[in-house]
Amino acid sequence: MKRRIRIGEIALGADEKEALMSVIESGHITEGDWAYRFENEFAEYIGTDGGVITNSGSSSLLLGLTALIVDERFPKIVRGKKVITSPVTYAATSNAIVLAGMQPVYADIDPLTFKLLPESVEQAVRESGADDVALILPVHLMGYPNDMDSLLDIARRHDLQVFEDSAQSHGTLYKGQKVGTFGICSAYSFYVAHNIQAGEMGAVLTSDSRLEGLMRSLKSNGRRCTCRRCVRNKTGCVMMKPEDDEFHDPRFMHTHIGYNFKTMDFCAALGCAMLAKAEQIRAARLENVRKLNELLDDFSDDLRLPLFSEDYSYLGYPVVIRKDSRVIRANFLKKLDREGVENRPLFGCIPLHQQAYSHLREQYLGRLPNAEYVGTHGFYIGCHQFMEDEDLEFIAKAFRKILG
Ligand SMILES: Cc1ncc(COP(=O)(O)O)c(C=O)c1O
Repeated sequence: MKRRIRIGEIALGADEKEALMSVIESGHITEGDWAYRFENEFAEYIGTDGGVITNSGSSSLLLGLTALIVDERFPKIVRGKKVITSPVTYAATSNAIVLAGMQPVYADIDPLTFKLLPESVEQAVRESGADDVALILPVHLMGYPNDMDSLLDIARRHDLQVFEDSAQSHGTLYKGQKVGTFGICSAYSFYVAHNIQAGEMGAVLTSDSRLEGLMRSLKSNGRRCTCRRCVRNKTGCVMMKPEDDEFHDPRFMHTHIGYNFKTMDFCAALGCAMLAKAEQIRAARLENVRKLNELLDDFSDDLRLPLFSEDYSYLGYPVVIRKDSRVIRANFLKKLDREGVENRPLFGCIPLHQQAYSHLREQYLGRLPNAEYVGTHGFYIGCHQFMEDEDLEFIAKAFRKILG
């Protein structure tokens, strides 16, 4: 069979099989012990006091935003307000903002690391009117961290909260601290192509216990109960108030309009098995990026290869075609794919290139030059942990064959 280097791979080894078998043998397949364990272990790995598991990264973003809207401690975060975010990301980030009833406002990005440019965020806040802005929602794309000091400073000066989309950066460090720990909360995806893989699963991490409780309620259709594990049949319901009659069941009393964002223990079990290897996965990906940078250095007149730092947890190997290059992305990516190297464009610039957001096109034409450039000239290939040296050589050979 012809060799194909995929963006991501999953291998279910002995640890993963054992975890999955334990779910089957427990007879409990919906969210339960494995989910609670994943919440604890992932929060500990990233460095927050708590977190709430969900069925996807998209749900996590929507859950976190809804909880912030419902939470009366944040009077500025209400439906209709604006959220300053990145235009170059998977559509889920913007979709969640819109589905939560808020408006995305896009700031421009750094063309190499895709992080929000603080001066562009500041301008977006100013032009939107600080009173109409609720949040800054940076995306740590491809494993690159945002400039959190500057974003937190802008947020503090304008009385805004920061919500990090950390779906693509499991374990990336910013000044020695993991991303996802800087804002009021952060969303993660464990979709199969991400570094810690669980099939379909997400989480919102936070150190704010009230927000965590609210998210537990909202992910279960807004029930009054905010407990993680029900102890009703053991010690009696801890959510009962003196005025409640004995038949009152807070699991079926609804104080908010919420969602069903619960996951399955199969996914959480897989997540736990992968999480135990998180640092090995990060190290293997780092090494692949380092070696690919060496192997592809001959093409750096045409291609901006990834910035390398041992602090990063790379989701992929992102490349941006240089301005003065003769390389045309569509042709190059088609040829690369034909040579057996799977690739993806770097998402496009949401208000300019995504049809669902075409109503914003005119407003943003010419206003996000870096995002527009990356959206049309950026792409990524895999750097996953199962790659061998000969796979990296295979990639380099494909680049050599196409670029000469
Ligand atoms: C930056 C970002 N945010 C959110 C998501 C949504 O995650 P999911 O696919 O698990 O819904 C993704 C998925 O790739 C993502 O890359």
